[in-house]
Amino acid sequence: TPESRYEAENGTLTQGVVESNHAGFSGTGFVNYDNVSGSAVEFTVRAETAGPRQVTLRFANGTTVNRPLDISVNGQLAVDEQAFAGTGAWTTWQPVTVTLNLEAGDNTVRAAATTANGGPNLDYLEI
Ligand code: GCU
Ligand code: CA
Repeated sequence: TPESRYEAENGTLTQGVVESNHAGFSGTGFVNYDNVSGSAVEFTVRAETAGPRQVTLRFANGTTVNRPLDISVNGQLAVDEQAFAGTGAWTTWQPVTVTLNLEAGDNTVRAAATTANGGPNLDYLEI
């Protein structure tokens, strides 16, 4: 069972907006990344101990085109262009799990779009 869920709508947004017009999200909405490279969501993620952790991002991508995100931890690129493939509809939400090396305490986890299409719609990060 996940220890903590961090809603994207509570994150720090760079070129993104909180919306709620596509059903199935958790919390009060999701983040719609602006469709530009560099649009991003940043989370402060707490880890009790240092080391590798499974981190899940829940997203929707109603297009047929991958919307990769660079995932960085504490300012360092951790996952280069993680794929967020089409999910079939903006109301179809799916998890993607990555392994991130976290420090004990608070970590800054940033998920930034690497193409001009921007990111997928992002619901939450879970650890
Ligand atoms: C549509 C959709 C948005 C999505 C956008 C996109 O406008 O309603 O939720 O973010 O497409 O292509 O990024
Ligand atoms: Ca968008």
